[in-house]
Amino acid sequence: MIAENFESQFARVQRAIADGPITPTVTPDEIRAHLQSRFDFAQPMALEDAILAVEEMMSKWQVQITHPRYFGLFNPSVTFASTVADSLVAMYNPQLASWRTSPAANEIEKFTLDWVARKFGLPGETLGNFTSGGAEANLSAVIVALTRSFPGYGDLGARSLHAAPAIYLTTEAHHSFAKIAHMTGIGRCGLRKVATDQSLRMNLEDLARQIEEDRANGFAPFMVVGTAGTTAAGAIDPLPELGDFCKTHDLWFHVDAAWGGAAILAPSLRNCLHGIEHADSVTCDAHKWFSVPMGCGMFLCRHPENVLEAFRAEAAYMPGKANGAAFDPYTSTVQWSRRFIGLKLFLSLVTQGESGYAAMIEHQARMGRFLRQLLSESGWCIVNETPLPLICFTRDGIDIPRFLGSLYDRQIAWMSEARIGGDPVIRACITSFRTTEQDVRQVVEGINQVIEVDSEVLSAPTESR
Ligand SMILES: Cc1ncc(COP(=O)(O)O)c(C=O)c1O
Repeated sequence: MIAENFESQFARVQRAIADGPITPTVTPDEIRAHLQSRFDFAQPMALEDAILAVEEMMSKWQVQITHPRYFGLFNPSVTFASTVADSLVAMYNPQLASWRTSPAANEIEKFTLDWVARKFGLPGETLGNFTSGGAEANLSAVIVALTRSFPGYGDLGARSLHAAPAIYLTTEAHHSFAKIAHMTGIGRCGLRKVATDQSLRMNLEDLARQIEEDRANGFAPFMVVGTAGTTAAGAIDPLPELGDFCKTHDLWFHVDAAWGGAAILAPSLRNCLHGIEHADSVTCDAHKWFSVPMGCGMFLCRHPENVLEAFRAEAAYMPGKANGAAFDPYTSTVQWSRRFIGLKLFLSLVTQGESGYAAMIEHQARMGRFLRQLLSESGWCIVNETPLPLICFTRDGIDIPRFLGSLYDRQIAWMSEARIGGDPVIRACITSFRTTEQDVRQVVEGINQVIEVDSEVLSAPTESR
């Protein structure tokens, strides 16, 4: 009954979003004035009125990322079950810091993470945890890798290390690593940018050369990050070769599959993640291609002992240790108080089933191929290569900010600008399982019309092409 009422609300909101604008036009001053005029914490307001007022603001004043023509930044449309899960969690408000305070929630998360780890081909002892997102999962990976590679790091800190540690990744890797390098005491200069090939995949020869040079110069290479689905272009680094390389050179192999990881469920795509099974650790965000609300990241690591050492903590005020094979999340993760993050993925998997998920992911991959085909047929130059549904494209003389502004004003679609090899391109990613062929056609017709009717869009000076 609760689910039924909620489902009709959910359907109403999804319909309104699909029929409404995608991109808002509003200024900070307009919103601030609106808030000042409508709300005053000194005067209690009826919840019903408050909900209506807030919903009105959200329906008008945000980019609608669950719109079927939102072709944006890995933010998904969400399954109904996952939204129910978020409310259920808020109502019960379990504390997952320790196993003893939330046995059911902790075991549901473990059940789900074990399944995801098996899908990636990781070994049975893999320890997983849910995170706020990919940035926290990547942070966990670097902390655990540092702890394993430099036993003094945990107690004595980065300055106790015999040599400056270095992490190897490409310029296409996620920018969270720059913050992480700062936060962990490695410093941003400890990130080594490895060259890429034509398809933006890491170049193994350059990796080997840089590591050899760094070792000769007294640095301490300890980690290689392979990205499976880069943020700008959806490139997949050569995972099997990176796995072999890391093994031979005694380096931690982390795979950042924040978005691309879900491809493991799709029969036509899972081969492109071949090699991920050799990773020491993996980042995969359920709040991306697993279509659940933010924030729901996952960190998986095949070395539980290193995870437990990295996040070792003792506090007399915490409930006694879990019995048997269970770990207290406060001793195995970055977070302390912990929301029951994993329920949204669990409930979504239980209700869609693996086959339902495979169908959703295959569908989006098909829509990506269709978009690629229509763009190419209508004269756009496609500049990235990936089996994933992410298309980067351009055209001679295009003024991309003006072009995107025109798309937003006409409510054709939401896309973004990215850079490939330093050059600006338009980036369109299929992120909604609700996007249909009709949506894709409508978008391509719309963008071709923009080019026809707005002559300024194709008048950019040569250097910005
Ligand atoms: C490849 C990759 N890794 C990590 C992240 C960070 O994930 P989050 O935004 O969930 O922290 C992103 C975000 O888009 C990403 O694309």
